[in-house]
Amino acid sequence: MSKLYERLEKCYKCFKSKIDFEPDAALVLGSGLGDFADGIKTEAVLDYHDIEGFPVSTVQGHKGRFVFGYVGDVKVVIMQGRVHYYEGYKMEDVVLPVRLMKMMGAKVLLLTNAAGGVNRDFHAGDFMLISDHINMAPSPLIGENADELGVRFPDMSNIYDRDLRDIVRNTAKDLGIPLQEGVYIQLTGPNYESPAEIRMVRTLGADAVGMSTACEAVAANHAGLKTVGISCISNMACGITDKPLTHAEVQETADKAAPLFKQLITESVIRLGKAL
Ligand code: HPA
Repeated sequence: MSKLYERLEKCYKCFKSKIDFEPDAALVLGSGLGDFADGIKTEAVLDYHDIEGFPVSTVQGHKGRFVFGYVGDVKVVIMQGRVHYYEGYKMEDVVLPVRLMKMMGAKVLLLTNAAGGVNRDFHAGDFMLISDHINMAPSPLIGENADELGVRFPDMSNIYDRDLRDIVRNTAKDLGIPLQEGVYIQLTGPNYESPAEIRMVRTLGADAVGMSTACEAVAANHAGLKTVGISCISNMACGITDKPLTHAEVQETADKAAPLFKQLITESVIRLGKAL
């Protein structure tokens, strides 16, 4: 057995010894969106601290726990707070929770984040369905391959699953919530980008920039976990406006957008669940 899988099994056994719940859908909540989990019908909560061998987040505003419960009739596990590469964790640690949620039984993964708008047609407060990504951080698959999870050289041609994207797109349309669509680029952070870097990523084809998500999507895809992603454009990226960027601004816009985002996520999860 690979070392990685051994570690995952340990985490899984620890989870199983505490909680009897098999989720169908997994959600990761980004900055400012964490309280979505507080509003669902909760069955159980598991602090990351209480899982042996689990990486624990240090960023303010990120809670660190799994919430298990129901969105509509759909059994979900929600990550309230994620770990980031810029905190100093290895990529293997950053994506461990996603792999663990797959082991818990999740069949679909909905990733959310706060991101900077690179596309000049976007506005702060917009939502963007992630059509594809560019991963500028190290691949989470570097190192020994966990053959138990997936193949050494996995295909990445449909990372954000077409059918799931259709579901989210139609959900937004039916709810009357405007939804942009585009390419997300993951940089390592933690600094925001320079104006020249934003020009570069725009030239590369990115519509939104952030410090998470792509690595998780790669790990999920590797493990055969169908994935869909939505960004909340919390600010326009550096160089588009003259204002310096602050984490407080990112948080504030994400907070403001939260009620609408919650609506979109709730209905999307219900429809994703029906499609399982
Ligand atoms: N850049 C990178 N990550 C981000 C941004 C940004 O402008 N906003 C929110 N996360």
